[in-house]
Amino acid sequence: MKQQDQKLPNRQVPFSDAFVAFIPEDWQPYSEEMPARLPAADHTAARRDAVSAAYPGERLVIPAGGLKVRSNDTDYRFRPHSAFAHLTGLGTDREPDAVLVLDPVFTDDADDPEKAEDAGHVATLYFKPRAPRTDPEFYADARYGEMWVGKRESLAEMEAMTGLPCAPLADLPAALSANTDRIGARIVRTTDDRLTTLMDELRRTNEVEFDPCVDEEFEVMLSELRLIKDAYELEQMQLACDATTVGFEAVAADFPTAVRKGRGERWCEGVFALHARHLGNDVGYGSICASGDHANTLHWVRNDGDLHDGDLVLLDMGVEVDSLYTADVTRTLPVNGRFTPAQRKVYDAVLAAQTAGIEAARAGATFHEVHDASIRVVAEHLHAWGILPVSVEESLDPVNGGQHRRWMVHGTSHHLGIDVHDCAQARKEFYRDGTLRAGMCITVEPGIYFKSTDLLVPEELRGIGVRIEDDIVITDGEPLILSKALPREADAVEAWMAGLLGS
Ligand code: GLY
Ligand code: MN
Ligand code: MN
Repeated sequence: MKQQDQKLPNRQVPFSDAFVAFIPEDWQPYSEEMPARLPAADHTAARRDAVSAAYPGERLVIPAGGLKVRSNDTDYRFRPHSAFAHLTGLGTDREPDAVLVLDPVFTDDADDPEKAEDAGHVATLYFKPRAPRTDPEFYADARYGEMWVGKRESLAEMEAMTGLPCAPLADLPAALSANTDRIGARIVRTTDDRLTTLMDELRRTNEVEFDPCVDEEFEVMLSELRLIKDAYELEQMQLACDATTVGFEAVAADFPTAVRKGRGERWCEGVFALHARHLGNDVGYGSICASGDHANTLHWVRNDGDLHDGDLVLLDMGVEVDSLYTADVTRTLPVNGRFTPAQRKVYDAVLAAQTAGIEAARAGATFHEVHDASIRVVAEHLHAWGILPVSVEESLDPVNGGQHRRWMVHGTSHHLGIDVHDCAQARKEFYRDGTLRAGMCITVEPGIYFKSTDLLVPEELRGIGVRIEDDIVITDGEPLILSKALPREADAVEAWMAGLLGS
């Protein structure tokens, strides 16, 4: 038995010498026509410049991450780390194991670092280019081979797409080992364990003291870099919301089927997923399709319940487009197209809370003022209905109150972008306590959740859960509602549903 045969898994048939000689022959040469430049590529250089300016003289390593095993030899669909996508413009499933490196450049290459003057960084995208057809990868590598996963890019093709100088991944260890005695380095350490280990080893042998906190600070910076979206990003967010509208319409139009077939929540999830994959890259997060009392479980993603005529269904769903920007929209809809008086009572309260939140979402306000505006309206309604056991002001007291949170325990807003909870590593002073500025994209998503088991709630309202969520761009004037194509007012929802259901 040959050495290589001993390594073969028990399902693989060994390749004969005749096959190995035969397989590279008589293929049409690869086209010399270069793929189109990614639309994002015109915007990524400015983002990399901002990173470069923040860390003069340091090597900066941003891995895409690798494929993750789902079970045995099948992987999850690949999605690059958001910072990698932001700085390279690569979206969809590109590019497993790739690494963006920003290497510091010095005008004076003398040995004395004191004399060297920082001159920014040079960016290189390291990735695994497709192997020639003479390489066993072509036919024998189920993860990367052309016969298994399709034609992947050459170095020149990836350069044409991204506008970045590219190099083979095999060159990366040597590149990361160069000049380690004279420059510091940072890595996004949560993405690629092997690379992080290598970087830690290289930095440990470095004479410069290494403190892993520098990596955490680097991730914070990369997260804060996305707080304000550029024109391209806002365009992508609008596309994501438009595709999400199509998905919501298809789901609502199919409610009668969902009721009839049973497991209607799954039907809704599936119909939306169809449109997410058709119009975009995927859903931006696990869809929440929560009928009746399930709406009161905030992250109800099991979605295995029935849809019943007369119930509400809370649908929290967003399409992620190919550039990986995602919408995050919630509508709570009457399954049969008409709200009951009790449902409408809760719905209108949430709508009033959302309207107050959107009104507060203005440049110059703090992020938490949006929540403050919404939650006050929620508390006022709970009080007016006799549910809140204390006054509105007592409940809103941040230190000694909070009783209203029993019925809305989550925040009203988060930043939205490449991640559904975008910029999550940003410092508190730039996020929760930060000032809203034009170009920020946030959700406004208050809710009221009356569990069927909550004895403090009037019986007619038990089991009703409502959330309304829209995606907002902060401007220098009125807030821009990217998801406004989907109706919000109860009457408008009913009219929209009548159109979709033909009733
Ligand atoms: N869909 C998750 C969220 O609304 O934050
Ligand atoms: Mn959200
Ligand atoms: Mn949501």
